[in-house]
Amino acid sequence: MGTRAWFAGSVAAVLLMCVEASAAGGAVTFSKDVLPILQKNCQACHRPGNIAPMSFLSYETARPWAKAMKAAVVTRKMPPWFADPQYGHFSNDRSLKQEEIDTIVRWVDGGAQQGDPNDAPPPIQWPENGWTTKPDMVIKGIPYTVQAAPNKNVIEWMTLVTPTGFTKDTWITSVEVKPSELAVTHHICVSFVPHRPDTVYNTFLWVDKQRDEIGAEVAPSARKILAPTPDGRGRELAGRAAEGVSPNTGTNTNAEQNISCYVPGRSLSDFRPYKAALLVPAGYDVSWNIHYTPNGAAATDVPEVGLTIAKEQPQRYLIETGNSVDPTTFAIPANAANYAPEPAVFTFLADAELHWMSPHMHVRGKDMKYTLVFPDGKEQVVLNVPRYDFNWQLGYDLAQPIKVPKGTKMVVTGHYDNSANNKFNPDPNRTVYFGNMTWEEMFTPFFAITVDKSVDPKKAIKSPRNIDNGA
Ligand code: HEC
Repeated sequence: MGTRAWFAGSVAAVLLMCVEASAAGGAVTFSKDVLPILQKNCQACHRPGNIAPMSFLSYETARPWAKAMKAAVVTRKMPPWFADPQYGHFSNDRSLKQEEIDTIVRWVDGGAQQGDPNDAPPPIQWPENGWTTKPDMVIKGIPYTVQAAPNKNVIEWMTLVTPTGFTKDTWITSVEVKPSELAVTHHICVSFVPHRPDTVYNTFLWVDKQRDEIGAEVAPSARKILAPTPDGRGRELAGRAAEGVSPNTGTNTNAEQNISCYVPGRSLSDFRPYKAALLVPAGYDVSWNIHYTPNGAAATDVPEVGLTIAKEQPQRYLIETGNSVDPTTFAIPANAANYAPEPAVFTFLADAELHWMSPHMHVRGKDMKYTLVFPDGKEQVVLNVPRYDFNWQLGYDLAQPIKVPKGTKMVVTGHYDNSANNKFNPDPNRTVYFGNMTWEEMFTPFFAITVDKSVDPKKAIKSPRNIDNGA
């Protein structure tokens, strides 16, 4: 074959390839194909100042992560999402469709090309400084330095009170909690509380709890073990209850006070889509509940709370609840692989709309399911999280609110794996009690409802634990 013939053959082959490529929509490029996916499904977290450690705003910052992206999307590790798709539609569902996963895979396999920058969609205008929503007002917390090597490796939950500065009643339509040092921040929750004459501002307060060798809170006396209950679950009673010592109830004691939190995967509580707002009376304070976890590097966290504020009184009140179990009797037996606590049953005392759910358990948490049981006996599963992952405290925003008539019950069930098969289990051989620390447990099915402004929000729902609300 002469040079010419070879040349002609190559041109034909190249032409053929081009025809094939354009038939399939052209080579997959970052600008044209991948960036739109990243904008829609990833940048909410993957941008400077937000929770993910790397930014996917540009080709330059995303390209080094190409291989990791492929692995993360193929295994569905990213974006984090745990709701069973069989039940409900959620507006913050960022999980990828199969063809989007395929696009990312083809992009990476094809050499992760940028393509023509003119193909790129216009950049999303994210709020500055990592905020998810641009705040009307920012309240700053007090700096706290987490030591590289603290005296003991447990920093107890702390509380802090700062003024709101509100001189008149204020309707808040969103609350976003933003720590500056995410690596050491386990959670920060804020709520609005009445000012008391003895309130001490700007001072961290905590209780040094007596802890055993693995850090679990020690009850003042041995815990009594009760005979198995008829359902065979084998419940135990924490000794401290028998002793009349007030149990360790964490932030959940007054969940009805509308607590907004930063936890991994969630930082914004936005009531605007619900046409609802939270009334913060003049002179109220911000109460911060803060939990830092040392990670070996010193860091000084300066948390902030961003608020959006309504011009006028909203149509609906927002109520967040979650109180579910009696912390004095909650106990997961050693080595139990599928322990079910008593289901949590909440009763709607007024017509309401359901908007948001967020299961909360610790490292032994396995699954949680929320079911509405309507007055006519019909049941509807509204959220099922079959594989709960403690590392992600996601909230699930219903795309359409669910109308819940008065008399409906919300029944929440769940399971724990306290066996050696649970790779996050620090010790399968011990009974696990209710407590704040991750190696203790919680069964806290948070959810948010709204009620018409004519309804007294204190009389809208009955939780399993606070019989007359707020107790
Ligand atoms: C809800 C927030 C959130 C969303 C949405 C999200 N990520 Fe992440 N991502 C994180 C955080 C936080 C980390 C670091 C912690 C970790 O790896 O678990 C991370 C880590 C990663 C990593 C590091 C490798 C790895 O496996 O740990 C990759 C790659 C990644 N994300 C890709 C993506 C892609 C691609 C998308 C969109 C399709 C996406 N993420 C959406 C929060 C998010």
